Amino acid sequence: MSATNTPQSVTDCAEWRALEAAAQKLRTRHLTDLFAAEPTRFAKFSRKLGDLLFDFSKQRVDAATLGLLLDLARARNVADGVSRLAAGETLNFTEGRAAQHMALRAVAPTFVAGQDVLPEVLAARSRMREIADAFRNGQLRGASGQVIRHVVNIGIGGSDLGPRMAARALTAVEPGATRVSFVANIDPFELDCVLATAAADETLFIVASKTFTTQETLTNAQAARAWLQARLGASTDLAPHFVAVSNNLDAARAFGIPGERCIALPEWVGGRYSMWSAIGLPVACAIGWEGFEQMLDGAREADTHLQSAPLEANLPVLMALLGIWNTNFLGCGSHAVLPYSQRLADLPAYLQQLEMESNGKRVDRNGKPLGCATSPVLWGGAGTVGQHAYHQLLYQGTLTVPIDFIVPVGDDSPAQGMLIENALAQSAALMQGRGEAQARAQLAAAGKPESEISRLTPHLLSPGNQPSSTLLFPRLTPHTLGRLIALYEHKTFIQGWIWGINSFDQYGVELGKLMARALGGGSDSAPPDGSTAGLLAAIRTMRG
Ligand code: F6P
Repeated sequence: MSATNTPQSVTDCAEWRALEAAAQKLRTRHLTDLFAAEPTRFAKFSRKLGDLLFDFSKQRVDAATLGLLLDLARARNVADGVSRLAAGETLNFTEGRAAQHMALRAVAPTFVAGQDVLPEVLAARSRMREIADAFRNGQLRGASGQVIRHVVNIGIGGSDLGPRMAARALTAVEPGATRVSFVANIDPFELDCVLATAAADETLFIVASKTFTTQETLTNAQAARAWLQARLGASTDLAPHFVAVSNNLDAARAFGIPGERCIALPEWVGGRYSMWSAIGLPVACAIGWEGFEQMLDGAREADTHLQSAPLEANLPVLMALLGIWNTNFLGCGSHAVLPYSQRLADLPAYLQQLEMESNGKRVDRNGKPLGCATSPVLWGGAGTVGQHAYHQLLYQGTLTVPIDFIVPVGDDSPAQGMLIENALAQSAALMQGRGEAQARAQLAAAGKPESEISRLTPHLLSPGNQPSSTLLFPRLTPHTLGRLIALYEHKTFIQGWIWGINSFDQYGVELGKLMARALGGGSDSAPPDGSTAGLLAAIRTMRG
């Protein structure tokens, strides 16, 4: 399968049709029946990568279906796709770029269009390390000579979500001498909240933007500059308070950040795959350089695994195939990611961009409409919090929602034990559900009279059969986080490859940006539709 010319639509493959037939049978089977018929499911349907356990025995697949899914991966030349990704081929063919995020964690020569990019990667890492070390050692100074103690990352999308998620996941709890904050929204509230407790002479702003044209980021960067000027004096050289990370260094310099304070972001890395590059600088500042390198090591473990493990033992391949099974054959339109770790609370938001911006597409590589669904809606939040909110829908709503439970086992404290018990209880209960006999027995045990038991029983029923995977690992560390994130990156790529789409462009989001531009800046062009015209009139009235 070439990057630009797919011989066949995925839905035309014989393997696709075989999966449709398999789904007819499996759609009506309950997971508890599958376990009853095959008590060794856990051994059959779980895999390991180092100390990470991936259990997919609670997915609605049997051995035959898994075989068919692997046949689909073979028919779609997944191994070839992985080789091309690793070789730095121009897989983002609409924009004419490679998608070489694996090079960002490389330690050996790695190629983009035949050229070794390792020297460029190492040079950027060394700049990051200098800044992160100086910050953490109290050697980074602002315009007045005051030590910089606060780093504020200004960026959005891929220039925010990854580093924000990783910094929250890995920053030490103890109050330290330094802190790292994140600002993304153009709504000034976010920047105002961060600056309310910031001291201008101790603050460094990282302006992170691949394009350096993003409205939100530039607006916030200008506001940060005005804030510094107001406090440090209009004539003060503010260069010591800024670092830029961008692929558009001319624009960064034009903004006023001198070249020696700019770190280049390679063109061949997509924004949502860039947290391993200098976009990760705030993470290095938050956890230290050693931790950042461990995160790269973890990602590299996933890269090696992707390229060397056979398909049937390859975690990202299996994650991708199970997602395709749930989306395309069981008709699930959403996918929940539930990390049982407050530190991973930002993971679903990060994965939303990774998966939905990558694979929320509707045409194949030839520009032809796909005959199947692509990325599901990804959502989620930290367990146990969600149990007291949206889990009700998972138990008794009408939707089938596949779930990834992500469970760092952590320490043996009682609270950690409860967190793990809750994660396992949710996946088991969502699989088993509650039948009539059980509901009646529970009501009887609660002392309800027969009339109440009959009245309430239908309200207690829960069909179960919610499919889930559990990713279990000993502790949340830079290494285990890096590995986890890289697994999801690879899952995303493989799904896109099988569907036959370009996972690395995002032309859809341009549409909203163009519309905002048309509406903004005092444009006197006519509103695009009657609703927008009405809303604009209402806004004018409300603003007086
Ligand atoms: O609008 C979408 C997007 O282009 C994302 O793909 C990207 O991660 C984000 O905006 C930020 O872009 P930049 O890093 O160029 O500011």
